[in-house]
Amino acid sequence: MDKLVVHGGATLRGSINISGSKNASLPILAAAILTGEDCIIRRVPDVSDTNYMIQILSALGADVERSSGTVRISCAEVIDEAPYELVRRMRASICVMGPLLARKGRCVVSLPGGCVIGDRPVDLHLRGLEALGAKVEFEGGNITLTAPNGLRGAEIDLRGTHGPTVLGTDNVMMAATLAEGITVIESAAAEPEVLDLANFLNAMGAKITGAGTRRIVIEGVKELHGVEHTVIPDRIEAGTFMAAAALAGDGVTLRRVCREHLKTITAAIVQSGHRVDFNEAGDTCTVYRGETLQGLEISTAPYPAYPTDMQAQMTALLVTTPGISVIKDTIFPQRFMHCAELKRMGADIKVDNGTAVVRGVAQLSAAPVMASDLRASAALVLAALTAKGATEISRLYHIDRGYEHIDEKLLMLGANVERVKDR
Ligand code: EPZ
Repeated sequence: MDKLVVHGGATLRGSINISGSKNASLPILAAAILTGEDCIIRRVPDVSDTNYMIQILSALGADVERSSGTVRISCAEVIDEAPYELVRRMRASICVMGPLLARKGRCVVSLPGGCVIGDRPVDLHLRGLEALGAKVEFEGGNITLTAPNGLRGAEIDLRGTHGPTVLGTDNVMMAATLAEGITVIESAAAEPEVLDLANFLNAMGAKITGAGTRRIVIEGVKELHGVEHTVIPDRIEAGTFMAAAALAGDGVTLRRVCREHLKTITAAIVQSGHRVDFNEAGDTCTVYRGETLQGLEISTAPYPAYPTDMQAQMTALLVTTPGISVIKDTIFPQRFMHCAELKRMGADIKVDNGTAVVRGVAQLSAAPVMASDLRASAALVLAALTAKGATEISRLYHIDRGYEHIDEKLLMLGANVERVKDR
């Protein structure tokens, strides 16, 4: 297993391109199942999660070609059983459920494994698909959905105890595109990635309105056709590099971003004392570390509020920001694995009941730390950028799941990092 050695102290300058969104790419790749015609999807990041989804689609019978960021998928013929071993290892593969059910009238998908950020139930996904007429059975670790009489539109409220569900909204929206009649999803997720999926589906001939709001209306159609689509920028990768620049940057420019999607992340970075300048078009920003810094209170919540996927990275920024900061995660209350590792480096953090209370310290010190999940790993890389000494971050595969060439991008900005292949 590779590790990353980060020598703290370098000042980051220069510019990089932000990649296409991993979390928009995954459901969009799955949506290609809904048609037998070719789909061309551009700016799909070359990360293990998207390559995993490509493996699953190929195992379902799709013909998939990737050339750099462009993926061509043809699902002329697909089977209705997703490969157990592949699906159980990546939670997001659950989003093949809706398209497979709509296309084949039946699908078998393994129950997704939990992960360190918390229990990952799928009860809301199943509530929605059952409302469309699917019968749900569990056997041998698999979920089997059948709709022998096809799917029929319904009014569905997808709110769970932690609010809306992103992939649950995606699954129901995809299935509803081919259902008979009108489907209304109340308490829908409004993330930009859901809107990007809806735009992709509408380009395929679907009839979806309201995506990007809490109420989505889908009028079922008979069939969908092939399409070409470019995925939106990855707002979490952009936010991660904005935090890196706030920690160690003196004018870091990020190209191919979307200001609209970065509002709450930008507000948090500016409120803690740093500077963020966007260009007129809002597709490029330059970040400068501030002089007078202050702690923050942040509470994650569904979009358009502050994203849970940027909670760990902001914590890494705040551990060396003077004052007290309070970070609450209302979506994944257990998503604090990074804190134990940051404490190894000298951070002063107390975690209790879904909230981290941080007391800023002057500087962290290098220590051998272990990545545990995608965003926690990113937080450790950020913290290491200004820590004294060389920090070794093991289990780098967590980071490679969702960040395209993160070490190369950091090197381009002047960071002193090296990827060490495990012997
Ligand atoms: C998506 O996961 C993202 N993944 C996650 O990003 C992100 O953290 C999450 O949305 C929240 O924004 C992708 O888009 C591939 P949810 P998803 O269903 O859809 C509960 C990353 O780092 N819930 O919106 O699986 C759930 O436990 C990843 O890129 C139910 O109770 O998350 C959580 O508390 C990590 N029942 C809340 O809802 C359900 O059926 C939100 O989860 C489904 C979810």
